[in-house]
Amino acid sequence: MNALPSLPPFEAIVVAAGKGLRVGGDKPKQFRQWRGKPLVRHSVETLIALGANEVVVAIAQGTQAIAEEALAGLTGVTFVVGGKTRQQSVSNALKSLTNGLQSRVLIHDAARPDLPPAVIERLLSALEAEAVGAIPVLPIVDSVVFAKDDMMGSSPDRDTLRRVQTPQAFWFDDIMLAHRNWKGPPTAGDDAQVLAASGGSVALVQGDERLKKITFAEDFEDTMTGPQFRVGQG
Ligand code: CTP
Ligand code: MG
Repeated sequence: MNALPSLPPFEAIVVAAGKGLRVGGDKPKQFRQWRGKPLVRHSVETLIALGANEVVVAIAQGTQAIAEEALAGLTGVTFVVGGKTRQQSVSNALKSLTNGLQSRVLIHDAARPDLPPAVIERLLSALEAEAVGAIPVLPIVDSVVFAKDDMMGSSPDRDTLRRVQTPQAFWFDDIMLAHRNWKGPPTAGDDAQVLAASGGSVALVQGDERLKKITFAEDFEDTMTGPQFRVGQG
């Protein structure tokens, strides 16, 4: 991995407490092998290599043994029991961050193994300069429509829309407070939504296709045909 210009200090949360129902199989996707290692190990290793002070990994009850095996030998990793939803898993992890106060925290999906350091640099820079949160986004290239059952509704202007990825960067105190203040069911898709709901400003930085979320069984199958293995394509 290329060395990065010095990053400010940060803590990290990796949520790995999901069931991976869309992938299926005998164990949750984050513990299955992907490019030679358990899926969750990829991003945790990167976060450690980039200098995270602590990586809190949220895991489901009953998966401690498999999680410890997947992350064996890594220093600075602690585990916390996640919740029924992603939002609850993050909330539990935030509560357990020992060095949290007034620090920067990156919140990341274990299901996104490939974590380009340049994205982290952009996120932490944006946090410094502009906002209390920063998230990586990508443009939408297809046209989009609202759907009801199988019928097409109106078409929003795709230029005003973005795809949102993780990691997402926050000042700990702000995101902790936003999670505490959340009203309604804890089903937010990501933490930027939680922050925005409590009035926090969220900067958008350029995301990266490599941050793709492993979601379906075929995302494991294409291991050797991913973009970097295709001959003759950029
Ligand atoms: N996650 C979590 N706790 C939950 C649900 C999800 O920590 N209660 C984590 C997942 O482990 C994953 C990330 O949130 O790293 C993004 O969720 P998703 O890709 O939807 O994973 P799963 O919920 O596990 O998959 P599925 O929705 O197919 O069951
Ligand atoms: Mg899910």
